[in-house]
Amino acid sequence: MVVKGLKKYFPNRKGFFYKIANYNKAVNGIDFFIKKGETVGLVGESGSGKTTVGRCIVRLYEPTEGSVEFNIDGNMIDLPKVPKKGMKTIRKHFQMLFQDVYSSLNSRMKIADIVTEPMAIHDVGNKKERIDRAKELLERVGLSADDISKYPHQFSGGQRQRIGITRALSIKPDFIICDEPVSALDVSVQAQILNLLLDLQDEFQLSYLFIAHDLGVVKYISDRVIVMYLGKIFEIAYSKDIYENPRHPYTEALLAAISKYKAGSTRDILLKGSIPDPSNPPSGCVLHPRCNYAKDICKEVLPVLEPIPGVSEAFAACHRYKELNLKSYKR
Ligand SMILES: Nc1ncnc2c1ncn2[C@@H]1O[C@H](COP(=O)(O)OP(=O)(O)O)[C@@H](O)[C@H]1O
Ligand SMILES: [Mg+2]
Repeated sequence: MVVKGLKKYFPNRKGFFYKIANYNKAVNGIDFFIKKGETVGLVGESGSGKTTVGRCIVRLYEPTEGSVEFNIDGNMIDLPKVPKKGMKTIRKHFQMLFQDVYSSLNSRMKIADIVTEPMAIHDVGNKKERIDRAKELLERVGLSADDISKYPHQFSGGQRQRIGITRALSIKPDFIICDEPVSALDVSVQAQILNLLLDLQDEFQLSYLFIAHDLGVVKYISDRVIVMYLGKIFEIAYSKDIYENPRHPYTEALLAAISKYKAGSTRDILLKGSIPDPSNPPSGCVLHPRCNYAKDICKEVLPVLEPIPGVSEAFAACHRYKELNLKSYKR
């Protein structure tokens, strides 16, 4: 998948006539790619625009601008250009996993119906074949075939996410957008679900866009990581590079948040304040009001995402990254 110039602006409406006052620039011009079979982590604080990126890819939101090219059976398809009618066949190739799996599963439906629904929508098999596949998949994800006659409330959070995974896998997708699927789970359960996702990826040749709000979860699962803030990409690199040699002050701050530095030493790394309103982003580098390394140029000039010389597939958007010696991840 190749994403180019992706933007999503949400109108903010005001007043008696409900006129558009301005736009929330939730995703403000981003470029990245995901190779087949790859897991790419998408990380940033809440409000960065991660969910919006995921939803624009599958057209749950219509992108304001940009292209999302995806290889479907040998043809490169630009997803935002596919007519609405044609989206049904395209949707077969994509599935989503959600953080709030309970509300994404209809609580009045039996697991059998929840899991076979996507197959029914896409006319896969007959009723018996769909039930057989559902049972087989339930066992594959660590549940039991008998669970098919139960209801969502009879399961724990981790088990519900396994049901969500079963549902997603039922139509043999190529690409799964995992939107914080383990953020609400206990740490021990998180590891089990992440392991399961890794096993399934090998078995079914899946590509994942794995969204998380901290760098802890994605460290374990990602081949490459994209760091996003206020609708912009700040850094992209292979996992090892991101954790051992962050180039962007924002990445350093996210690493500090999950690292165990000696007391006091993280103080000057952590960001000041909180994420600004995307309707009125700061001038220049959108991080500058919160960045400890900001200089005059950062307030004035928007840094572009540029390749890091000598490092494969690594990019950073910071005026000062070459001169900064940023701290890496410490266990
Ligand atoms: N459907 C929507 N309508 C209007 N604004 C939205 C909508 N979805 C998200 N936003 C806004 O877009 C920005 C990015 O949100 P989101 O993509 O959910 O970020 P993240 O997933 O990184 O927390 C936020 O300011 C949020 O309020
Ligand atoms: Mg989100």
